[in-house]
Amino acid sequence: MSNIKAVITGVGGYVPDYILNNHELSTMMDTNDEWITSRVGIRERRVLKVKHAGTSYMAAKAIEDLFAQTGTKPEEIDLVLCGTTTADHIYPSCASMAAEKAGIKKALAFDIQAACSGFIVSLATASSFIESGHYKKILVIGADKMSAITDYSDRTTAPLFGDGAGVVLVEPTTEEFGVMDSILHTDGVGMKHLHIKAGGSAYPPTHDTIDKKEHYTYQEGAYVFKHAVTDMAEVSADIMEKNNLTKDDIAWLIPHQANLRIIDAVVQRTGVEYEKVIINIDHFGNTSAASIPLGIWESQKKFKKGDNIILTAFGAGFTWGSIYLKWGY
Ligand code: UT7
Repeated sequence: MSNIKAVITGVGGYVPDYILNNHELSTMMDTNDEWITSRVGIRERRVLKVKHAGTSYMAAKAIEDLFAQTGTKPEEIDLVLCGTTTADHIYPSCASMAAEKAGIKKALAFDIQAACSGFIVSLATASSFIESGHYKKILVIGADKMSAITDYSDRTTAPLFGDGAGVVLVEPTTEEFGVMDSILHTDGVGMKHLHIKAGGSAYPPTHDTIDKKEHYTYQEGAYVFKHAVTDMAEVSADIMEKNNLTKDDIAWLIPHQANLRIIDAVVQRTGVEYEKVIINIDHFGNTSAASIPLGIWESQKKFKKGDNIILTAFGAGFTWGSIYLKWGY
């Protein structure tokens, strides 16, 4: 094993200005603030309203924020990874479009499709690239424009999702900071229960697929909920056990934000105190791959060098996993 580790050295984020709150949603469909806040924990979410702006628009804004915070120049970046399920187009990648918009001209850029787990899978991938010595400055993005794949006449999915983008800069270090370990899993059993049926190579778009609303997210909520609770809680406990960490060793737990009740289950299983849990589902909703980097973005001022942080996510696939990292600044 190399003694090089991948450490986060900067953070950026972006959410659209438009706030879609539960009251407005309740004028669009048969739902109400009480159901959404008590069953899911969401008060409001952001929606990107800029015409023909896709996920790369938000990702580029997040990169520009990171550049402004860190003084990093576009030409210093040698790899851009984007965890997303909502690339602007089938191709090219969202990463390549975001890089272009942010003035990054020569870096390798590609997407990683692991749905809501996209950010942690991308961060683990970036970490391996750094440890191998192949790349020195990697942007790891988690970004999704979920409003583009949400049916706003379906009350079982519409209240859940929001739009946003977060990004971290990852660099090599020989000190004991950065990504210490990761555990990642996939189980294709999830396909049936959480997917977008049409628009890909199996069911290319037709009038029929549009009439049947097969270009929107389909989710069997209760089935997905059960898996999310079990798998995220178990994998968080697994990574702590594997690294001999007790709840008192953990400074911050940053879970994917799909449902406050799922987060509660992870908190109970790991024993981590609630004050150490980063929550943004109440104001951003489920932003898919963006939920964890947005959590880092909003909370980084509270982090101290050496803090042990657990990231954990669950999403379509099913994909799920945890990362253990030590904050480096
Ligand atoms: O991001 C990664 C993957 N996604 C997840 O991890 C999400 C996992 N699933 C969930 O978070 C939850 O299952 C949901 C939030 C999606 C749904 O919550 P639930 O407690 O599982 O509700 P349910 O689907 O079992 O529905 C309970 C009731 C139903 O009414 P009846 O049949 O009991 O009369 C629904 O029709 O709530 C009703 N309902 C609503 N009522 C008001 C469903 N959606 C709504 C709504 N407003 N928006």
